[in-house]
Amino acid sequence: MRYKIEDYPFEKSDFLHYLKILYKDRGLKACYQFLNRAHRRSFSRGLISTYAPRGIGLEVGVGARTICPTHRTVLSDAFSAHGVHDSIAKVFFHGDEIPYEDNSFSFIVSEHVLEHIANPLKVLKECIRVLSPGGKLFLFLPHMERTNDSHRKVTTLEHVIADYEKDIPFDDATHVDDWFKNVVKKGLMPIHYSHLTKKDLLKTGSIHHHVWTEKQLLEIMQYLGLKVCYVNAKVPDRRDSFVVVAEKS
Ligand SMILES: C[S@@+](CC[C@H](N)C(=O)[O-])C[C@H]1O[C@@H](n2cnc3c(N)ncnc32)[C@H](O)[C@@H]1O
Ligand SMILES: [Zn+2]
Repeated sequence: MRYKIEDYPFEKSDFLHYLKILYKDRGLKACYQFLNRAHRRSFSRGLISTYAPRGIGLEVGVGARTICPTHRTVLSDAFSAHGVHDSIAKVFFHGDEIPYEDNSFSFIVSEHVLEHIANPLKVLKECIRVLSPGGKLFLFLPHMERTNDSHRKVTTLEHVIADYEKDIPFDDATHVDDWFKNVVKKGLMPIHYSHLTKKDLLKTGSIHHHVWTEKQLLEIMQYLGLKVCYVNAKVPDRRDSFVVVAEKS
């Protein structure tokens, strides 16, 4: 089954939508702080409006918050909840099978999602399929040295190619032991996953299967034939993250 962009209920006001989800997710105090800091995530939002100033976009794995212009972005997720947070997505599907026609979107944003994917190339190839030529892909990802993955080994291009060739499914368990040894046992388990069993962690895409810095992501972009437009090893308004913006030719 395929979705149609025309049927998607876009929000009229980004600002009110953002306040609404902030209130639901983090309460009145967070709204107050936001209003006092009018420029929250302004760098990342500006990146999207600079490289994708018009057209309809798709966010993959939106979770409980978004930096996208919601009046022209389809908010999607694979799961209705992630850890203790409800997703604000309005359409649900796994990133390895995106139910839209080829060349549907002017941009795709995915923030802290690709590391949760057992078969990243499969999802990236789907993203490229639904991006229109000249469309931009924005990938915000945790930098391995500045997150709970700091004790783990970086994931190579060869590894993700092998995952793709083996057609690894979304709930693959290959990296669970590494996650437990180098994240959970080191006391670095994110608090919002701590109530989940091993099985639930996998079923809800909650572990970081893979671990990167911007360097490996650039290799992946090159391998996929994408032109890199922008890279920043430290996102100024999400400092545990790096960002890569790439273009489909
Ligand atoms: C750490 S949360 C990030 C949420 C949000 N983008 C943010 O930055 O706060 C990871 C998100 O990835 C989503 N996810 C996990 N596996 C996925 C998959 N196979 N396809 C699409 N989304 C997935 C989860 O549902 C969750 O919303
Ligand atoms: Zn893997």
